[in-house]
Amino acid sequence: MVPELAGRSHLEQITSLTRNILSEVALDSIDLIAATSGPGLVGSLLVGVQYARGISFAQEVPFRGIHHIEAHIWSAEIESGELPLPHLALVVSGGHTLLVLVRGIRDYRILGETQDDAMGEAYDKAGKLMGFGYPAGAAVDKSASQGTAGRFALTVPMRGEGSDFSFSGLKTALLYKFRTIDAAQSETAIPDLLASFQYAAVESVIHKIENCLREHSVCAMTASGGAAANSLLNFRLNETANAHGIPFRSPTLKLCSDNAAMIGYLACKLESAGIIDEISHVVRPRWPISQLTARTSRITTG
Ligand code: KG4
Ligand code: ZN
Repeated sequence: MVPELAGRSHLEQITSLTRNILSEVALDSIDLIAATSGPGLVGSLLVGVQYARGISFAQEVPFRGIHHIEAHIWSAEIESGELPLPHLALVVSGGHTLLVLVRGIRDYRILGETQDDAMGEAYDKAGKLMGFGYPAGAAVDKSASQGTAGRFALTVPMRGEGSDFSFSGLKTALLYKFRTIDAAQSETAIPDLLASFQYAAVESVIHKIENCLREHSVCAMTASGGAAANSLLNFRLNETANAHGIPFRSPTLKLCSDNAAMIGYLACKLESAGIIDEISHVVRPRWPISQLTARTSRITTG
């Protein structure tokens, strides 16, 4: 992704997007405006935050800047209603892969995160290698579903103690196997290779979740972010939650990937809890979730 192009694309689309929304919702009926204020690409963040602040100023309604990953975490509630606490939240997107113990609003403990590529990023790189367009996650998932995982042996990454992830070794292993495929075989070999890639990536995530569930007692499990739409991941997460006797919730496809509903939902949730960030109007390209409040903490397992 080219940051400058992403920012320009936001600029080009924000006015027509807002007009579309205002054809369905009266501006006067809006009593709170929110936008993602971090983490992310500074140009894109600035477009959204400054545009939303302009409306908030003109309409004399409050503005709230929202943490993108915190919004993904709570997006699992939008369609299912309030989740029991504590719960284990998996966030798998193009930029982040983390496991969070959610004890309440603004009461988070990061149990694990990726040491290199995010899961969605690994899918995008795998897809690029196969010549798929960006983002490639859904196309890799589809091709993998048509293949058989046993044909190419790819090692499940990080199959040990602890809950941190790593996907960059898997991406390199995929590249080496890909080079062994000759063009005549590629019609069946590529789905088979991607099925092995998908199996290794998903089993790595499930292994880390099992490690967390052994150490922490939770009442539910959630998955959100674009890669949570992955068919095998979704199936295995359901299986894992069932085996542990806890409910599993994941938003439907359109709320798994980036969306404005989750930003608005979290803004309302924070408002109801009386939580107002002092510097909510500032854009923060780097904004670790552990900085959200004094009650948040980072722990290392294993
Ligand atoms: O949450 P999201 O929309 O944006 C970020 O915050 O990054 O996630 C986008 C990511 C992309 O990397 C995309 O390839 C991946 O989610 N993705 C998938 C699938 N659908 C989208 N990855 C694996 N399997 C999928 N079915
Ligand atoms: Zn996202």
